[in-house]
Amino acid sequence: MKTIVINNQKGGVGKTTVAVHLAWYLAEADRRVLVLDMDAQANATDTLKRYAGPASAADMFKPAAEIRPSGIDNLTLAPAVTSLTDVDRSEAGAILRLRENLMAADEHFDVCVIDTPPSLGLRSVAALVAASHVLSPIYLEDYSVKGVKGLLQTFIGAQQRYGRPDVSFLGLLPSIFNTRSPRQRAHLEQLLRDAGKYVFPGHIVARDGYAEAVAERAPVWTLKRRSAQEAGREIRAVLAKVAECLG
Ligand SMILES: Nc1ncnc2c1ncn2[C@@H]1O[C@H](COP(=O)(O)OP(=O)(O)OP(=O)(O)O)[C@@H](O)[C@H]1O
Ligand SMILES: [Mg+2]
Repeated sequence: MKTIVINNQKGGVGKTTVAVHLAWYLAEADRRVLVLDMDAQANATDTLKRYAGPASAADMFKPAAEIRPSGIDNLTLAPAVTSLTDVDRSEAGAILRLRENLMAADEHFDVCVIDTPPSLGLRSVAALVAASHVLSPIYLEDYSVKGVKGLLQTFIGAQQRYGRPDVSFLGLLPSIFNTRSPRQRAHLEQLLRDAGKYVFPGHIVARDGYAEAVAERAPVWTLKRRSAQEAGREIRAVLAKVAECLG
């Protein structure tokens, strides 16, 4: 099983929107998908709740957690629960437990997508340690672009500390990109100059359809409005590249 972690400590950069669409995309492509919602805000859970399996995301930190498919459309959600915030106060052993539990569920799923909270607690570190791939949505504004160095350091730090040099960093994915904003375009150019090798080849344009899709609990490409259809084409092209990287 491949495990892709959608991570950025910064809030509101599009992590959950990317995570749920990636899950839908992979499930439509006949992959057996497990989604872990590690964020107690439970946004991904709200959108994907019809796929909820018996185990919650907090259960994933317990010894020998059993993770079984929901049996619905190739998708299984381990939902966020309020006790997730307690996980951040667990002993350090819990960090490796997530990885062990996912490895034990290998025969049931092809890909695990982990949506992380906008903080760097034990849950996010455990997700990075369990990852085979990491994708980091970023917002093209000044503070976000400046925060990129910290983001890369976090990822490399977790990799080194827990001996996971094999984790593949797919890159920084510019999201909620207002392509008409000269400032955002300038930030993207600067980012490509300063850290080009860490930037994913693609971006997600800011479009109205995404909020509607998440509220309707359906992928943006299934909505009727023309702007949603356009958003659907764009994000599918990006997700196809992500799927290709997962192999
Ligand atoms: N491409 C997009 N175009 C327009 N709006 C978007 C896009 N992606 C996300 N949004 C909106 O931006 C807000 C933040 O997105 P999202 O919840 O995906 O971010 P997040 O990084 O998961 O946030 P948090 O850190 O709070 O979990 C939401 O209201 C969402 O609908
Ligand atoms: Mg989120």
